[in-house]
Amino acid sequence: MKIVVIGTGYVGLVSGTCFAEMGNSVTCVDIDSEKIENLKKGILPIFEPGLETMVKRNLKTQNLCFSTSIKNVLDNSDFAFIAVGTPMGEDGSADLKYVLEVAQTIGTNMNSPLTVVNKSTVPVGTADLVKQTIEKQLKKRKLDIAFSVASNPEFLKEGDAINDFMKPDRVVVGTDDELVSKKMKNLYAPFFRSTSDRFIAMDVRSAEMTKYVANAMLATKISFINEISNICELVGADVNKVRIGIGSDKRIGYSFIYPGSGYGGSCFPKDVKALTKTAEANGYTPKLIHAVEAVNNEQKLVIVHKIINRFGENLSGLEFAIWGLSFKPGTDDMREAPSIYIINELTKKGAKVRAYDPKAINEAKEFYLKDNKNVTYYDSKYSPLKNCDALVLLTEWKEFRAPDFNEIKKELNNAIIFDGRNQYNEEYLAELGFEYYQIGKKF
Ligand code: UGA
Repeated sequence: MKIVVIGTGYVGLVSGTCFAEMGNSVTCVDIDSEKIENLKKGILPIFEPGLETMVKRNLKTQNLCFSTSIKNVLDNSDFAFIAVGTPMGEDGSADLKYVLEVAQTIGTNMNSPLTVVNKSTVPVGTADLVKQTIEKQLKKRKLDIAFSVASNPEFLKEGDAINDFMKPDRVVVGTDDELVSKKMKNLYAPFFRSTSDRFIAMDVRSAEMTKYVANAMLATKISFINEISNICELVGADVNKVRIGIGSDKRIGYSFIYPGSGYGGSCFPKDVKALTKTAEANGYTPKLIHAVEAVNNEQKLVIVHKIINRFGENLSGLEFAIWGLSFKPGTDDMREAPSIYIINELTKKGAKVRAYDPKAINEAKEFYLKDNKNVTYYDSKYSPLKNCDALVLLTEWKEFRAPDFNEIKKELNNAIIFDGRNQYNEEYLAELGFEYYQIGKKF
């Protein structure tokens, strides 16, 4: 199949590369010429395990090409995937500016029948807008070319995106056209090795809604367990045990009920807010979804409250070593990372912070914590510890899971760990003489 992917951000780059890996002929297009020049050389704008090797391999076989112009690549293509960003607008709703600009460019440049597929996360009704925009351009050009607009929301997790794309739990396709449904099923068939029941076809609006509902459901699970963790602490229960107790019920399950310092990233915060906006725009005030966001905002600061309870309201003269800055392990992405809020709050109260993260230090330095002069950065996990007053764990990277606790104790002023991701065994740490503060269990 001949495929054009417009937008070489996270979703576009991963999707385009994986389609190429399956033998399709893919051109990824972006208006950012520097990005495209780099990609042609195999230099990626993001870190994602396995992606660079896959891009380089498919550049070599020429299954994958990069271009800044949509003009010549649309002709005789089977699919044009729209994978541009839908940033949060000022009022919290998704901003469709880029999606509709791409639709306009497609309408201005297409000369042969085409299936346009929306992969960007877009509110219900966007496929209709894309269709109208393309129709308008074709009419201006006095052309009558057959095209269809389908929705194919993406369910990739950062850090595991290649795996998610190559072995999907499901592929959701929204289309009102039986032929398009068949074409999409053929495109995805190689990704389902033994079964095709993971291909879920539905109408366009339900597919658009599915994306938001999936993310809102996952965010709800996290906020639910985080709220429970706060109650557990007050009543003298241990949320780590309660989590296992409830997860053993198959109807509940173990996944996405890990308590912590709240969810971050480019998806959950934005999508939860956008779903609220969609509901409100249609005359419904959501209570539960709204609460999911409110609980998450408060949860980010739970670890700060624990630090204040231990050291007092004024943190001047104290230094904290931070392990982990990215919003989750396996990525350098710091969008909406709890670490930003936690670190800024600590330094506002007078503390100094020494931070280490395996991948996200540049992001922190250059963007997210750029203005915070009370943060210094280190290039290995033990190096920031010397004479710090406590260690604070914020992202559960594998290299933090089984550290040398004797080394930590030797370096710190006090043997104190604040764990925002409940990674350690408290009995073991108590034996070693640590004060160990975690989420959802009173110290
Ligand atoms: C999320 C969804 O998991 C993907 O299915 C979806 O495709 C993607 O958003 C998207 O819309 O593009 P992602 O944002 O990469 O993926 O990250 P997750 O692995 O879902 O983690 C999100 C946040 O939840 C992280 O901050 C993580 O630490 C937190 N989390 C996750 C918890 O606090 N507890 C848990 O039990 C699980």
